[in-house]
Amino acid sequence: MTDPALQLEGAAVRFGARTLWSDVSISLERGEFLAVLGPNGAGKSTFLKVLLGLQRLSAGTAQVLGKPVRRGSHRVGYIPQHHQLELETPLRARDLVALGLEGHKYGLPWVSHKARARIDDLLDQVGARDYAQRPVGVLSGGEQQRLRAAQALAGNPGLLLCDEPLHSLDLNHQRAITELIRRQAVDRGAAVVFVTHEINPVIEHVDRVLYFARGAHRVGTVQEVMRSEVLSELYQSPVEVIEHKGRLVVMGEHSEGTHHD
Ligand SMILES: Nc1ncnc2c1ncn2[C@@H]1O[C@H](COP(=O)(O)OP(=O)(O)O)[C@@H](O)[C@H]1O
Ligand SMILES: [Mg+2]
Repeated sequence: MTDPALQLEGAAVRFGARTLWSDVSISLERGEFLAVLGPNGAGKSTFLKVLLGLQRLSAGTAQVLGKPVRRGSHRVGYIPQHHQLELETPLRARDLVALGLEGHKYGLPWVSHKARARIDDLLDQVGARDYAQRPVGVLSGGEQQRLRAAQALAGNPGLLLCDEPLHSLDLNHQRAITELIRRQAVDRGAAVVFVTHEINPVIEHVDRVLYFARGAHRVGTVQEVMRSEVLSELYQSPVEVIEHKGRLVVMGEHSEGTHHD
């Protein structure tokens, strides 16, 4: 049996007196797709930072691909939360994708034939061939976001972490990125942790949901977690989940009271 792609036992993160979340135990197999949901400030991005080795746990343990988490593992791909790159960023679109290849992390100047083919393939798949030679800073937010997805996939990660990667994308590109992640990660046996504000764009791919709110959380299938009773208990206020034409509409959801991105 192979090691789980990720395994947390009794994990907690505290900042001073504030417990962001605690007692998180979850194991994710390769090929599984976990959607991480919850209001702003609930600790979703921090959950990814723990898996990236950028945030220390206050309690419990976290393993990634059978080993304790550590920074800079090339087996872990990461699509960061969207931010617009500076206009002067001295990279072409193609370079940004190439940064996702392992050799580049060590500053090796060469790109093998195979690596070049992989980059071309990914540029095609995110529809970025036309702007592959342009400086990244002049590209739109959506175009940059598609390149970040391609970058994260370039090294064939065993675990792919995505922080609201569909943010600032129109519906067609949301679908394209989701399909790409499906083909290039899930179908190749990688596990995916996908932080998203909205479950509907990915709902058909989701195996399990991790829902954070008010310092508490729930883990389970979509059917188990996305229910009025479960979310009302989590939020400690009435929340109604309505199914409408295959979409889930969550009513009464509110933020944690801290506003930031
Ligand atoms: N290093 C830190 N020190 C203190 N507070 C932090 C730190 N990192 C994150 N936080 C706080 O933790 C909360 C959760 O942040 P985050 O994980 O980004 O939430 P989400 O991604 O769900 O919106 C926020 O209130 C944020 O201010
Ligand atoms: Mg976040």
